[in-house]
Amino acid sequence: MRKVEFIEVPSLVSARNRRDSSVTIKYNFNPTLKTLAYFKDKKFFIRTYGCQANIRDEEVMSGILTKLGMVKVYDEKLADVAILNTCAVRENAEDKVYGQIGDFKSIKAKNKNLILMICGCMIEQKHIIDKILDKFPFVDIMFGTHNIKDLVTLLNKYVDENKRYVYVSSEVGAIVEDLPSKRLESYRAYVNISYGCDKFCTYCIVPYTRGKERSRSKEEILKECKELVDKGYVEITLLGQNVDSYGKDLKDGTTFANLLDEVASLGMPRLRFLTSYPSDFKNEVIDVIAKHKNIMRYLHLPVQSGSNSILRAMNRRYTKEEYLDLVERIRTKIPEMAFSTDIIVGFPNESYEEFLETIDLAKKVHYTSAFTFIYSPRVGTPAAKIEDNVSYDEKVKRFKELVSEMEKDFIYFADQMVGKTYEVLVEEVSKKNKELLSGYTENLKVVHFKGDESMIGKLVKVKITENHLYSLIGELVNE
Ligand code: SAH
Ligand code: SF4
Ligand code: F3S
Repeated sequence: MRKVEFIEVPSLVSARNRRDSSVTIKYNFNPTLKTLAYFKDKKFFIRTYGCQANIRDEEVMSGILTKLGMVKVYDEKLADVAILNTCAVRENAEDKVYGQIGDFKSIKAKNKNLILMICGCMIEQKHIIDKILDKFPFVDIMFGTHNIKDLVTLLNKYVDENKRYVYVSSEVGAIVEDLPSKRLESYRAYVNISYGCDKFCTYCIVPYTRGKERSRSKEEILKECKELVDKGYVEITLLGQNVDSYGKDLKDGTTFANLLDEVASLGMPRLRFLTSYPSDFKNEVIDVIAKHKNIMRYLHLPVQSGSNSILRAMNRRYTKEEYLDLVERIRTKIPEMAFSTDIIVGFPNESYEEFLETIDLAKKVHYTSAFTFIYSPRVGTPAAKIEDNVSYDEKVKRFKELVSEMEKDFIYFADQMVGKTYEVLVEEVSKKNKELLSGYTENLKVVHFKGDESMIGKLVKVKITENHLYSLIGELVNE
């Protein structure tokens, strides 16, 4: 058995640390000559789970490995380096990863030189590292979300000593600029505006896995967005776990509203942002959206629950009434705004009446889409310590009830779209029907229609002809 070298290990205590201010450093590309020679023309594979923050991390890792002279492959069996970029937000996300690591046992048996690396949010937790070290002795390297900048350092060590490495720094976490990046798409891009989260919702693991909230400088963000616009990108999404608190830590008066205004002025056809935290959402942001037609009329505004007592237990810092008031303020200024949300069903000890309040709120807002989840206890979070009197079966029942209630609004909304013409960003040839293209509208409704592959990555006008609940059928409108 190869020796394990712990360069740094995660700790929930240091991950909770919010005292120190963050620093910005420049990326240092530091391969040794031996590393350069070893990896030149070798193949890498990355599989990403979880949210857009992880997708962006994959692009950075691809950039670093490409700079080393490596080539990306999409079949893990062909890879010399395979990376699993993991998510820890719910148990089912983790289970998928354990299954996938298991599959690598036979792949590694056939390809002894394959270097298997696991990174991402799961690796920020000590109990998961221990489990992987114990159950999967063929995993070579584990590194945390703050250690992507150290990827080459780890490869240097690996080619020199060939041990198993664990490198997870859970301290404050610097902002790293000038990172290489190989984007997955040529028409749609994510741009990080802040990292980490300071909200500590009691159910959520993200503040531990991603660390303290820290904002990138406005200049760096604008520079990155300008480069994307110059390259012809059609859609840019600004990313942060809580975009509305962007700038707080910069202490120079920069706010999300200023940033959004300046980014939108760069003139990309479509601009979005994720994720908004209701009580941090400022009126100035509503004004900036109203001012810029290229900011999409689609707002993802997670509510989590419609019950004030559950919201309090979740440490969400708003009431149902405040949330509804915000929706109203936005609709007054931007009547065409579509809303989507995240909802957790079955938070510990949620009563049926409290659950019904969530349905009631959903019916008041009329969401056009939603991500609904059954509560999943996360080790180390406050909610996981609560003794829960609601059975899992009951949670599943409530979950189904919520989804079927909310679907009534989704259907109604999509029905209203039939007969009208929308701008659609064309994504790909439809997976189910090779004759059709798939794209999505401003409000993220998927549309299938007949068209030419050359339209992929472009905006086209499509008239909606049929509503199929989770997708629409349309026909191209020639101008
Ligand atoms: N920062 C974003 C996204 C966080 S994770 C936000 O605040 O909205 C995405 C969603 O996963 C959350 O909005 C929440 O609905 C869900 N989620 C997070 N932790 C969860 C848990 N322990 N169980 C079930 N769903 C969870
Ligand atoms: Fe998690 Fe809450 Fe932060 Fe979102 S705001 S990442 S749900 S702690
Ligand atoms: Fe998952 Fe980490 Fe994103 S836990 S949702 S990949 S921040």
